[in-house]
Amino acid sequence: MDKQRLKVAIQKSGRLTDHSLDLLTRCGLKYSRGKDQLLCFGENMPLDVLLMRDDDIPDLVREDVCDLGIVGRNVLEEKRLSLVAQGLPSQFIELQALDYGRCRLVIAVPEDRPYQSPTDLNGLRIATTYPHILKKWLADHAVNASVVVLSGAVEIAPRLGRAEAICDLVATGGTLSANRLREVSTVFESEAVLIQTPVPLSPDKLAWLNRIRLRIDGVQQVKESKYIMLHAPRSALADIRRLLPGSESPTIIPLEGHPERVAIHAVCRENVFWETLESLKAAGASAVLVLPVEKMLA
Ligand code: PRP
Ligand code: ZN
Repeated sequence: MDKQRLKVAIQKSGRLTDHSLDLLTRCGLKYSRGKDQLLCFGENMPLDVLLMRDDDIPDLVREDVCDLGIVGRNVLEEKRLSLVAQGLPSQFIELQALDYGRCRLVIAVPEDRPYQSPTDLNGLRIATTYPHILKKWLADHAVNASVVVLSGAVEIAPRLGRAEAICDLVATGGTLSANRLREVSTVFESEAVLIQTPVPLSPDKLAWLNRIRLRIDGVQQVKESKYIMLHAPRSALADIRRLLPGSESPTIIPLEGHPERVAIHAVCRENVFWETLESLKAAGASAVLVLPVEKMLA
């Protein structure tokens, strides 16, 4: 593989896959997917995307096989604690959180099992694929429980009689309720993060990384932003500016043939709700248009 191209590892299939590809697309990347489906070749940037098992991503980046990785903070933290346990260097360079893939690692018990506080877990077996994070939490809460390490399908462990409780990821909660389990405590909160190799990048790669990071910031900023255009009487300007959510300095444009009215254009950095439009109308606005913002460069 070309040494001059940035290699980004993302999850092959799972909760982060579509969001991660979408983020890179919004950053301007056009890619073609290789025959093996494991490599997306960047056609308009020196950047390739490798589709990997999420659990492998921290090591791929730490060992400089990939320059960058997008991974859940849960996977990263589990890896970090396992390196600590082995007495190995455990620092990851976390560049930024990416504002998607939010989920939490929780303790859950069968719906009919009473639970008041962590001490109720004393003496129980807890099944998980996150043994290091769980053991740390148990130690922090002075709970004496045994950790049953599984490689998947943790939610069925109680029904199989392998454990009395589980520690697993929850996003929507659908998996827990389908398995008649209830969440009783949060162990770790997670979202997707961008990580970087500990090996210094070449100047060319670093320049591209910086460009991409600025674009990621731009993508995150416009997510909720709207461009709003309306007509209003000059006399209502102050009221209307107050009503426009999260907009700094709107553009005021005179309207040909209507000296008493102006057009106002503004970027609103928050979502614009129907209630806001109704208040704007009540304040004298007309011809109100709300448009999505696709890109923004501060
Ligand atoms: C997690 C977890 C549950 C599911 C919970 O698995 O193990 O199966 O997601 O999500 P829900 O609350 O929306 O139902 P994940 O998809 O992360 O797979 P992995 O652990 O095998 O990577
Ligand atoms: Zn996984």
